[in-house]
Amino acid sequence: MSNEKSSIVKDLVNLPANVVRSVFRNPLPSSDRGRAATSFTNFFLHIQPVRVSRQALRPTYTMGLGLISFFLFVILTVTGILLMFYYVPSTTQAYDRMLDLRSSVAFGIILRNMHRWAAHAMVAVVFLHMCRVFLTGSYKPPREFNWLVGVALFILTLFSSFTGYLLPWDQLAFWAITVGTSIAGYAPLVGHALRFMLLGDATVGQEALLRFYVLHVVVLPVVLTLFVAIHFWRIRKDGGLARPESVIQAPAKVPVSVEIAEQPVSAMPMGGTVVVAAPTRRFTIQGLVRGPLVKVGKLEEDTVFSWPNLLIAELFVLLLTVAGVMAVSYFFNAPLEQPVNVMHPPNPAKAPWYFLGLQEQVSYSAFWGGVGVPAIELLLLMLVPYIDRSKVGVGRWFARERVWANVLFLTFVIINVILIIIGTFFRGANWQFVSPF
Ligand code: HEM
Repeated sequence: MSNEKSSIVKDLVNLPANVVRSVFRNPLPSSDRGRAATSFTNFFLHIQPVRVSRQALRPTYTMGLGLISFFLFVILTVTGILLMFYYVPSTTQAYDRMLDLRSSVAFGIILRNMHRWAAHAMVAVVFLHMCRVFLTGSYKPPREFNWLVGVALFILTLFSSFTGYLLPWDQLAFWAITVGTSIAGYAPLVGHALRFMLLGDATVGQEALLRFYVLHVVVLPVVLTLFVAIHFWRIRKDGGLARPESVIQAPAKVPVSVEIAEQPVSAMPMGGTVVVAAPTRRFTIQGLVRGPLVKVGKLEEDTVFSWPNLLIAELFVLLLTVAGVMAVSYFFNAPLEQPVNVMHPPNPAKAPWYFLGLQEQVSYSAFWGGVGVPAIELLLLMLVPYIDRSKVGVGRWFARERVWANVLFLTFVIINVILIIIGTFFRGANWQFVSPF
């Protein structure tokens, strides 16, 4: 009995230490085996490979643009959920709720600012990330499918931002969405039906506000999350980020076999060597994995452990992204114009900035500008990795072997940026050309 008592007392004394040890199960790793085990056994870290190429960590290579896109999405999700506690998708209440956020909700203004600026930033950063992937030739086989997933992510990002634009229910929101959705109406045959489906009515009103709200807070974020998960999973399956051939050793000629032991995963292959425990069954590696995953005999040079190298880089990018969004939100307030007045359209009524290139094109030809050209551009963008299948110049910025592909892509980018600049700064009343100076 007294033994039992003393063991209970011992357990109580050790309780805090036992709780801490049950959460933080392993000490900070000090060996290669420990570093590999950390990546394997941690729920968050196991998404990453155990080792990562030095090139993938070089800030001048990826510029962290994919990660920044992801962290902006996380910021948008967190601030968006907090905003949902206050927002009501009703034409009679939405605007007042915006005023409340400004004046009576604690941190309401910074919350709204962060959500707004992060949304704009995400559109721009995802676009820049796409440019980086193109200009380093990283869409080539076996990454064609991930490029397609990326194009879907770009479209989803645009529509997430667009649907959020209406929610403040001010003049800016109302007329921007009126213009934006009228562009959809120019599609032949299905245009009017499409616009009606989006608005739930012939004009922007309560039905549209509700539809945009549901799309913005449920449908698009869920689909985006799914596509981001597929995007990250594909990066792993495609063998990490694209690298020039020179940093990948030639495959070994001799077929490799591995002995699989009934051991915990953390005691399996590490540090580039295969740890073999009590032999049980034999497989050739081809029997286990197929396609671009076959890495045995293709050991990569110049790699480092993900823990802590990749983790530190990721935390740094996270910190930078949060700090950047907070700094901008501290100094600049998100716009809020007068409440909606359907009788007084601003002149000119402009779409959100990322659709101003389209609006500019529409001013020349409604069909070609609003539907024909964008549809062809989108199709070409999707077909990029299927048109350009050569494997030269992969994993390098502006590789000389890819000069024509890069020139064509940059021409397309520059034309679209110029159209957006014209639409934003050089168009005044009745879409007349004006000087911003
Ligand atoms: C929500 C949007 C997106 C997120 C969160 C995202 C995230 C990422 C991340 C974290 C990476 C790892 C390397 C890096 O940081 O560059 C990556 C790579 C990649 N992304 Fe994205 N991405 C998005 C959109 C896109 C778009 C629009 C495209 C192209 C149309 C694209 C195509 C690719 C490809 C092909 C890779 C592999 C690149 C390589 O192997 O070097 N992604 N993405």
